[in-house]
Amino acid sequence: MCGIVGFTGVQQAAPVLLDGLTKLEYRGYDSAGLAVRNGSSLAEVVKATGKLRNLAEKIDGGAALKGTCGIGHTRWATHGEPTQTNAHPHVSGNATGSASGPVESDVVGVHNGIIENYEELKAKLLSHGYTFYSSTDTEVAIKLVDYYYKKYKIGPIDAINRMMVRVRGSYALALMFRDYPGEIYAARKDSPMIIGIADGETFLASDVPAVLRYTRDIYYIDNLQSVRLVPGEAHFFDLNGDEVPMVSTHISWDAEAAEKGGYEHFMIKEIHEQPRAVKDTLASLIKDGGIDLSGAGLTDEILAGISEIRIAACGSAWHAGMAGQYVIENLAEIPVRAELASEFRYKKMLIDKDALVILISQSGETADTLAALRAAKARGIRTLAIVNVVGSTIAREADNVLYTLAGPEIAVATTKAYSAQLAAVYALATKLAFVRGKIAASDYKYYIEELQAIPDKISHILDDKERIQWFASKYANAHDVFFIGRGLDYAVSLEGSLKMKEISYIHSEAYAAGELKHGTISLIENGILVIGVLTQGELLEKTVSNMAECKARGAYLMGITSNGNYNVEDSVNFTIYVPRADENFIASLAVVPLQLLGYYLSVARGLDVDRPRNLAKSVTVE
Ligand code: G6P
Repeated sequence: MCGIVGFTGVQQAAPVLLDGLTKLEYRGYDSAGLAVRNGSSLAEVVKATGKLRNLAEKIDGGAALKGTCGIGHTRWATHGEPTQTNAHPHVSGNATGSASGPVESDVVGVHNGIIENYEELKAKLLSHGYTFYSSTDTEVAIKLVDYYYKKYKIGPIDAINRMMVRVRGSYALALMFRDYPGEIYAARKDSPMIIGIADGETFLASDVPAVLRYTRDIYYIDNLQSVRLVPGEAHFFDLNGDEVPMVSTHISWDAEAAEKGGYEHFMIKEIHEQPRAVKDTLASLIKDGGIDLSGAGLTDEILAGISEIRIAACGSAWHAGMAGQYVIENLAEIPVRAELASEFRYKKMLIDKDALVILISQSGETADTLAALRAAKARGIRTLAIVNVVGSTIAREADNVLYTLAGPEIAVATTKAYSAQLAAVYALATKLAFVRGKIAASDYKYYIEELQAIPDKISHILDDKERIQWFASKYANAHDVFFIGRGLDYAVSLEGSLKMKEISYIHSEAYAAGELKHGTISLIENGILVIGVLTQGELLEKTVSNMAECKARGAYLMGITSNGNYNVEDSVNFTIYVPRADENFIASLAVVPLQLLGYYLSVARGLDVDRPRNLAKSVTVE
């Protein structure tokens, strides 16, 4: 989704803003722009479509745009095509927004999110003499602020507050007012924005990596708060315009954690960080030989009283939830349903009052997952967030928070955060099983040992990655790939298929193996690749039979299994072995070759692995 940066200080703003936007590139975008002003001069706007380098070239890496205060934006198109006219910043005046150069407008701004009632507001503004040059909802929001600013002759904070009361939707806004040189104004609702202060300078950004090189003490802007930024200071205001205290959160990630560290892409770096991500997450939950969830506020009494569980999440986090559904039901014998947050949020939610709703999210900002959280809370149901980003909205609003310790994840295609989510879900399942008397003390000990063995086993798979690289080069021209599995193997298939399609653009689908004959098998032709995940002892023979049916129709078969399982090699064309592990936790191993396959296919096809087209790392609009 769109990325916002802002800076007011001593050094030149444009290079700082460009650097910040580079750090936010992972969010996904299709155009970019900056507005910079020098003292009381007019703000100068520059925009470009495509990659950030196009923008950087226009301003000679920043050197051609003078000034110590500015805002910047990477746009992921929602309303209006990704053209230069629609690119941000937008202005309050009736100028043609496509032009670069000084702008006469009183308000210049950038926006992330969606203004839902923008058509109604646009009609109102048109009737007051405003004209519109772009098809964006952002231009409407900025002109609305300008309208209140002038109509009531009020200051920026009051004008922004009036806008916030009037608009529906989600937004993070950064604005500069012509009458207030050296100042930036920001406001947000349901779209993230943070502030950092260091050495007499103030930084604004959509996400932490953009400011990490300056400070690790972050100020989160709360929903419906506005902020005035001046060099070295920030002042927070509530909707009444009253100043409110600012609270800082210390981020333990260091700046290097968000750099490539010698790897060609963030994704392969993050794949290699999985042993550590899983180890750190487990280490935070396993103490003195037992699983301790008190850090998340989950006492034994709370855990014992849960009647049912719903897991709501999106994308890979939903896949982690799917795995959790099988593992929790299996170990703790509590009914669990993993649901897509985008569906869950609009359902009647017929849930028992003693239910637990678990939200899984790397970013902690996904719009649908946040809405699912709020819907559950509104019904008085306890919510548990399994989140990676400290201080994110979902983490702050949930009743209980269990942090995954994956560190900053930059590649759009998640790997280490997904693995850390699995680890957290396994620990929860094991603890639930023990507290509820479903497993004996000896089993509890066994499961904890099995959990602690996962990181080394992942490392072992990574040591042997060349075989998968070789296989990927052979299948770089594939058009369709099918992933099948039963039970937990189905959950892994979903993630393997997503990894493939999102970064290699090869059409792929995941099917519960038993469903294959109800439609998909008609798509099997000569040479089509069918990948079977075969780790569940009682189910894998059935999946192998389904694979044989595909082979009989010309498919090429790849199987992922663990040593000692049924002789898979006799039935498939290419076998990948992962180390043996308890079947409840083996998804953590089976997924790794599939992540590597997706990665190497994307590399072999010469694609932008870390920034796949049309995708965003954090989806903050519905
Ligand atoms: C996007 C990302 C996925 C991620 C999903 C949910 O689609 O590209 O990798 O799984 O959002 O994100 P979250 O931050 O809630 O885990």
